[in-house]
Parts: sequence; structure tokens; C-alpha cells
Amino acid sequence: MIKGIKGAPDVLPEDSGKWQALEAVARDLLERYGYAEIRTPVFERTELFVRGIGEGTDIVEKEMYTFEDRGGESLTLRPEATASLMRAYMEHNLSAKSSLVKVYLIGPMFRHERPQSGRFRQFHQVDVEAVGSPGPAVDAEVVALLHHLLEAWGLKGIQLHLNSIGDPNCRPAYRQAFVAYAEAHRSALCPDCHVRLEKNPLRILDCKVPTCQQIARGAPTISAYLCGPCREHFAAVRSLLDGLKIEHTVNERLVRGLDYYTRTTFEFLNPTLGAQNAVAGGGRYDGLVEEIGGPPTPAIGFAIGEERILASLAALPGPAESPTCTGVYVATAGSEAFLVAMDLVQTLRRRGLRAAVDLEGRSLKGQMRQANKDRYRYSVILGSDELARDQVTLKDMLSGEQHAVPLGEVVDRLTRLPERDYA
Ligand code: HAM
Repeated sequence: MIKGIKGAPDVLPEDSGKWQALEAVARDLLERYGYAEIRTPVFERTELFVRGIGEGTDIVEKEMYTFEDRGGESLTLRPEATASLMRAYMEHNLSAKSSLVKVYLIGPMFRHERPQSGRFRQFHQVDVEAVGSPGPAVDAEVVALLHHLLEAWGLKGIQLHLNSIGDPNCRPAYRQAFVAYAEAHRSALCPDCHVRLEKNPLRILDCKVPTCQQIARGAPTISAYLCGPCREHFAAVRSLLDGLKIEHTVNERLVRGLDYYTRTTFEFLNPTLGAQNAVAGGGRYDGLVEEIGGPPTPAIGFAIGEERILASLAALPGPAESPTCTGVYVATAGSEAFLVAMDLVQTLRRRGLRAAVDLEGRSLKGQMRQANKDRYRYSVILGSDELARDQVTLKDMLSGEQHAVPLGEVVDRLTRLPERDYA
């Protein structure tokens, strides 16, 4: 048997409803906030991600699914959506339609990470981007939207961590001070952090190795280095969030794993999830569009990991699910009755009901068993006797009551039954 890829799980029929419900809530709320869906291909030119996400990042260095296509071009399965969305934003000149473009994308992302609980190689994000405004009001609304969405899904105990990582004006001085500090502690850093020190030193701040964490705790902090405009921006974002009563913790070690961020960064954490506890993350990226060949364009966004939301919801105590009975099962005996039943179920489905007929040649008894197993609310029994009288037997599967109904009236009768019996 050929097995699926490790870290790329299947969503089975018994679980797909949860995914659909999750995404339906997201779509509804996003539309209310003025966001429109955008769908981009799952692959792009490799260069887009290398330039967008940054050469020294773990994603670009170690995690991309990159391949050469038959035309010899290097392509990559998207490890995230922001770079693709900004490519589409430029390519289709979306800024011409609106000065603030609000878009979202829901779909799979691909990263060759070591699979573990909460970390997959194919995972799914709800990605949200607001493009065109540099002001702190957008930062606050974007964070408030994410906060609202997590609440709408019913998540509990989620913590918001917030930081400002400055901009190209002030970050270099911070970086320099940080590197000098880290160099002084080089011998105590883990092997990965030795590499980070050369390529992406600020990532040392969120290394999970305890000795590195201890060193990170004593490191110079970004807040002392922020320039005036970055400081004011951050203060304004925080006071807007306070005004919205959105609790947050300033975490000066929140630098995020992608190079494109400027100023505001944030993550929502579920402390009960273990090592992979970020359910969503994002930030401002005022330099990204320029980096990939467009005009200077301020923007901010976030992405939510759908698997981690579902894991968080599964861990919450909730009422046991009691499946409801819905729809109509048409049980038949004989080939003539089967033909009539096929037509009947098609009509019922067109009228909006869930309906089924046996396609596997079961006995009448077997069909009734199946109707129970599949939790149909009503059954219609159609044998040769019924057919001869132009009637069917309509049975309420919950009460067991049954009575004869003229064949010509059964569709109307079923569609007139109280809606809640089908819901
Ligand atoms: P990210 O922090 O790399 O940001 O990913 C966002 C979320 O995706 C994470 O918080 C996590 O829930 C989920 N996630 C990431 N990697 C995995 C994985 N291997 N398995 C399961 N879930 C995962 C971004 O992707 C940015 N593009 C977010 C953004 C949008 N920033 C601005 N706009």
C-alpha cells in the first residue's frame, strides 16, 4: 500500500464538517470587516519567497519545497501566503481600486519542518492582509479582528503578545547592540544559534533551548532603540487596543521568523498547546512590496493555523455531540419501484432535502437498517404492492409511526413537514 506523506494528514469525512464550520465562521466575520477573498496558486517562482521571506530565514534555508519544473524553472510550494498575495496585489494593480485593500486567503501551505504535535508539512492558514495604510488604526483593527475571530470560534485562554521591532531606521543600531551582546556569550549558545548569529541574529531571541533563552533574557531590548516615529506608532497601537479592551503583553523577544516585518509584530498563544503554541501570528511589513519589485507600500496582516485552532477547540470541554436525524430514505423492493424511487430522491434533493435510495441491492430489511444507521428522519417504503396502489408508506423513523400516502403527494408532504425535522 502506498502511504501518504508524513506531516501531511488527510482530513477524513468525519472531521471535514469541523473544517467547513471553522472556515464558514471566518468567511462571515471577514466579510463583515470588509475583507474579500483572493485565491492564488499554491506554487510561485522560488525567487518570490527568497526575496520576500528573506534568505537567512529558516523557511527559505531549510523548509521550502522547491523543484525545477519541466521547463527548467525553479518553483516553490508556498510556505506562507503574504508574499503571494503581495505579488498578486502588484500584478493586478489592486491599489487602483482602493487605497486600503483588504484581502484574505484560506488554503494549504507547505514547509519541510520536522513533523510533531501541532507542526505539519502541509498545514492550512486563514491569511488576512490590509494593504495601503501606514497608520496605527489599521494595526489595531487587524488585531481586533483576529481577537474577535478567535472569540467567535469559542477559543478560551488565548494570550496576545505584542512587540515593535522598529524599522530600517532604528533596527540596525539595535541589531548591532544585540550582536555585540550575543558575541560575548557565543560559547554558551546552541549550535543553531551560532548559525543564527551569522545569518539572522535576532532569531536567537526566540530559540527554545534553555541556555539560549537565559542569554536572550539578559539581551538589550528593542524598546530602548526604537526611533521616535516607531515609538509613537507602537504607543498609538497599544492605546487603541486598550480602548478596545484587548488585553496584551508586550514581549520584546517577539521577532517572528520572517524577514519582512517592520514595527508591529504579534502572536496569539494558547499556553495549553505545548511547544507549538502559536495559533496565529502576524505584523506590519511596510517594506515587502518594495522588496519584491513594487512601490513603497505599507501593509499589515496575520495568518492563523487552522490545525492549531481545531486542536485548541478539541481540548475544550463541550457538550457531547448528539447527531440529529435528517432527511428521507427511500426503501424499495423490485426494479420497477427502484426506478420510481430514483426519480423521487432526485426530486426531493432538488427541493432541498437530504435524500437517499439504496444503490447496493440490499433487502428491504437491510435498507431500513441502513436508514437508521445513516440517521434519516423519515423513510418512504415503495414495494410492488404500494406501486400497484399508487401509494407509498411514509414512516417516521423516530416515533415509528407510519401511514399510506398517495405517490403523487409524497414530495409535497415531505417538504411541508416542519423544517426542524430536517435540520
Ligand atoms: P507564521 O507565524 O509563519 O506567519 O505562521 C502563522 C501561523 O501558521 C502560526 O502561528 C501557526 O499557527 C501556523 N503554522 C505555521 N507553521 C506551521 C506548521 N508547520 N504546522 C502547523 N501550523 C503552522 C506567516 O505565515 C505569515 N505569513 C503571517 C502574516 C501574514 N504576516 C503578515 N501577514
